[in-house]
Amino acid sequence: MSWISVNDYHYPVGWEDGFDSDDRAKWYCQQLEQGQILLFEKTPFELPKEHQEFLLSQRQTDSRYHKNISYRPNKNVLRGVSSNLAEDSDRLRQIMQSYSIQVTKFLSQFLSPYAQDWSLDFASFRPLEEEGRDLPLHKRNDLLHVDAFPSRPTRGRRILRVFTNINPNRPRIWNTTDRFDVLAQRFAVEAGLNRIAARALSSKRALSRLTARIMRLVGINIADRSLYDEFMLRFHDYLKENASFQSECPKIRLEFPPHSTWVVFTDGVPHAALSGQFALEHTYIVSMNALLSKHKAPISVLEAICGRPLSV
Ligand SMILES: [Fe+2]
Repeated sequence: MSWISVNDYHYPVGWEDGFDSDDRAKWYCQQLEQGQILLFEKTPFELPKEHQEFLLSQRQTDSRYHKNISYRPNKNVLRGVSSNLAEDSDRLRQIMQSYSIQVTKFLSQFLSPYAQDWSLDFASFRPLEEEGRDLPLHKRNDLLHVDAFPSRPTRGRRILRVFTNINPNRPRIWNTTDRFDVLAQRFAVEAGLNRIAARALSSKRALSRLTARIMRLVGINIADRSLYDEFMLRFHDYLKENASFQSECPKIRLEFPPHSTWVVFTDGVPHAALSGQFALEHTYIVSMNALLSKHKAPISVLEAICGRPLSV
């Protein structure tokens, strides 16, 4: 099964009826950690109609350069807005702020075990049609991949994402395939896991990490990547470069209907966005301490394969 439909959930009816009991929240966390996608057929948090209408009226240009409009909740800053939208950017920022607050409030209760030890990453608005985009290979969304962020290393923490399809008429279509543990067993060594793990002993690498930390102390943001981050970036690219994997692997097609919301660990669930336009997304970085099944986390799977620690 590739997704679990959270059918009996109707916000806000039943909110006080023990829906968000500890046991139930834990059960959903466990499903996510096993590689399930949790689907809400109706958006389970407040997303005012006028906000949706405003978002649907936006037309982003320069698609090759601006994949998404991103919102940084901790700084209340919007990025990636093309010049043709500049005059609307204040309104857009307010809407993204409201979205971030509402979805975080909902998720803090729905997945309460994570909320004590996560950090809010970026939110995004995706106004472009995914089908037929002209993007370089490593940026293509329509190829199966697991997520890794070049500029925001997680050092083993998990990438949890919430998506909402605000398109009133059309579904958002994904493909998925075997989960991370299966792909890692099959491809991680070929993708360079052992070579990257051996860098733990490299003095050149130790020097470049030290430099990154010093630069960060003086306010210059250089990504300080662990071996895990280095491998995950390589694996993201490796999977997209692997034409036989892309064409021959088993695929499950998922249709996310208009107004649906889905929650997924995108570093563990391979995904490809085949089509769809107008989606909202929010990312949370969940610490290892908050996970219920740490051995299922990608870093644990990889460490078991290569026999070395990768958080360094
Ligand atoms: Fe992705």
